[in-house]
Amino acid sequence: MGSFSFVSAAAARRRNFVIKCYKFVFYGCGMSRSRGKRWNEKSAKFRPMGQPVPQFLDAPNLGQNGSSRSVPSRPTYQMVPNSFLILLLAKIHHQLLLEGKVALITGGASGIGEFTARVFTKHGAKVVIADVQDDLGESVCTDLNSSSASFVHCDVTKEEDIENAVNTATSKYGKLDIMFNNAGIAGTPKPNILDNDKAEFEQVLSVNLVGSFLGIKHAARVMIPAGQGSIINTASVCSTIGGGASHAYTSSKHGVVGLMKNAAVELGQYGIRVNCVSPYLVATPLAKDFFNLDDDGVHGVYSNLKGKVLRPEDIAEAALYLGSDESKYVSGHNLLVDGGYSIVNPRFCMFEKS
Ligand SMILES: NC(=O)c1ccc[n+]([C@@H]2O[C@H](COP(=O)([O-])OP(=O)(O)OC[C@H]3O[C@@H](n4cnc5c(N)ncnc54)[C@H](O)[C@@H]3O)[C@@H](O)[C@H]2O)c1
Repeated sequence: MGSFSFVSAAAARRRNFVIKCYKFVFYGCGMSRSRGKRWNEKSAKFRPMGQPVPQFLDAPNLGQNGSSRSVPSRPTYQMVPNSFLILLLAKIHHQLLLEGKVALITGGASGIGEFTARVFTKHGAKVVIADVQDDLGESVCTDLNSSSASFVHCDVTKEEDIENAVNTATSKYGKLDIMFNNAGIAGTPKPNILDNDKAEFEQVLSVNLVGSFLGIKHAARVMIPAGQGSIINTASVCSTIGGGASHAYTSSKHGVVGLMKNAAVELGQYGIRVNCVSPYLVATPLAKDFFNLDDDGVHGVYSNLKGKVLRPEDIAEAALYLGSDESKYVSGHNLLVDGGYSIVNPRFCMFEKS
């Protein structure tokens, strides 16, 4: 049976390139026998002589056919890593993930959207931030490189605004590869349904669900002729469970996942992928205002995964995966970034929590 790999050809090429560069840095330049000796002696504290060397450091003096063998007892030509060059290579490697791609991010002036804009530009994308907070959005763009980020005023509940935002991206950068429908509101926390009024309910659905619909529609308008594209929607853990937020918010996020699935089915024929990213609680203005908590308060809320704090950049990394070619066959998926929160009922669980 042939071997099968989930790593795309592009990713494999990039990985091989980076490994070659690392080998060049380690073995091809800046090396001296004495420095090699110093490093070898120092590292011996951590890796006793006789233990195999990691394969990626496989040097000409080690075993043949890709096998490693014991480190010889005398110093060898293992080189002092040039940390600057390695950092540079790592940076180049990372930037390749969205190189040449154009992304439009709604709700990009704050929180998850803002961090996604930062991560996307770091990975080589041109980004258009679309938001109702003009000053904040402009300042994020100024902070990022002006040649790679620009702001457009956009209220996602208004079709003409979304249409204009998509047109801005295509006229400025020539195309649209990634649409991130991320703008959202939480509404007001009213635990009793009798206190909830229709206008408030409709407002939350209008931003969270209708906004995503308009974003998908106008992204599809330009992605269909291009025969490719990745549409990402920010849903929530509230897209899979009840009780985490208001009726309006939970309804809107369940709706976003349903819409995503339908769009993924329709747009798959044009090579367009549609997915959701669903965060657990992140300390952004939206969550802090809704729960009336500060950063520490948010971080102190129950988590299934101990020792880690969920930050906006973690959601940005998930969006990066869905936007990049690393996820080229992923469509119709709701990627939960919740540390397992949504799959456990902590009140009814056989595993003891320490
Ligand atoms: N923070 C969390 O705990 C959490 C958890 C799950 C899902 N989410 C979702 O993440 C997304 C981003 O929220 P966040 O937490 O970063 O909050 P945030 O308040 O920091 O960012 C939301 C952004 O959306 C913008 N926005 C609001 N209404 C808009 C409109 N009509 N048109 C255009 N832009 C509008 C806001 O101006 C803001 O910049 C939302 O869809 C939210 O529902 C957040």
